[in-house]
Amino acid sequence: MSRRPQPLVAGNWKMNGLIADLGEIEAVRDAVVAGRAGRAEVLICPPATLIAAAAKIAQGTALKIGGQTCRSESCGAHTGDISAAMLRDAGASYVILGHSERRASYGETNAAVRARAVSAAQAGLTAIICVGETKADRDAGRAFSVVGRQLLGSIPVNPDVERLVIAYEPIWAIGTGLTPTIQDVAAMHRFMRAEVDRLVHSDAGAIRLLYGGSVRPRNAAELMAAEHVDGALIGGASLDADDFMAIANVYLRDAEAKVPA
Ligand code: PGA
Repeated sequence: MSRRPQPLVAGNWKMNGLIADLGEIEAVRDAVVAGRAGRAEVLICPPATLIAAAAKIAQGTALKIGGQTCRSESCGAHTGDISAAMLRDAGASYVILGHSERRASYGETNAAVRARAVSAAQAGLTAIICVGETKADRDAGRAFSVVGRQLLGSIPVNPDVERLVIAYEPIWAIGTGLTPTIQDVAAMHRFMRAEVDRLVHSDAGAIRLLYGGSVRPRNAAELMAAEHVDGALIGGASLDADDFMAIANVYLRDAEAKVPA
C-alpha cells in the first residue's frame, strides 16, 4: 500500500474576478499562512488576467496559483491562447486541463488534453486533468466506461506523477448544487485509483484524485472523507475566501484524520 499523497484543495475561479477581487486571494493567503502549512496544498486558479498579480500576493507563502487551460505549443500564431510556459512565467505552478466546460465549448479532445499535460510538465507545471460523465451517461450506466476512456486518452504516457492530478467532476454536479452520493463518489474514485495504477506503472499512488462538483462548506467534510478522495476542485465556493477556507480547513484543521503517517 503506497503512502497517501498530500491533499490538494484547488479553487477554479472560471471567468470571474477583476483586480478589485484580489482581496479574496489576499485573505486566502493570510489564512494559509496562519494555518498548519504542509497538511494540504491550497491552490487558486484565477482568470489569466490575474495570475501575475495573484502570484505576487502568494509569493513566499504556501498558497499556489494556477491557470485554467493552456495550449500544447509553447508559442506561435495562436491568437487568444496561452502556453504553459507563459503561465509558468506569470507565476503559476498548476494548470487545470480538460475541464468539461472547455471540452464542451471548445471541443477539447482527450488527445489535446494529453498533449497539453505533457507541455505543462515540460514547463514545470502540475496538470489537473478533469474527467466526468454527463447525467445521461450516468443514467445509462456508462459513468465508469466514460471516465475510463477519458483517463486512458488524457493521461500522458509515462507521466511525471508529481506533476499530475486527476479531478473527477461529474458534469451534472458542476454548479448545480447536486452531488453524487458518498457511495458513488467512493466507487468512482476506487475505479479511478485502479485505472491510474494500471495505466501508470511507477509510483501511481502519488497521483492525487480530487472530487469536484458543488463542493460547499456544508458538504465538504463528508465528500472529502470518501475513500480515495485526495482533495477538492471547487468552482463557485472558491470565489469567497471564507467559503473556500471553510472547505480547505477540512484538511488544515483535521489533518491527522486524513493523512495517516
Ligand atoms: P462548482 O464547479 O464547484 O461551482 O460546482 C466545480 C468546477 O467546475 O470545477
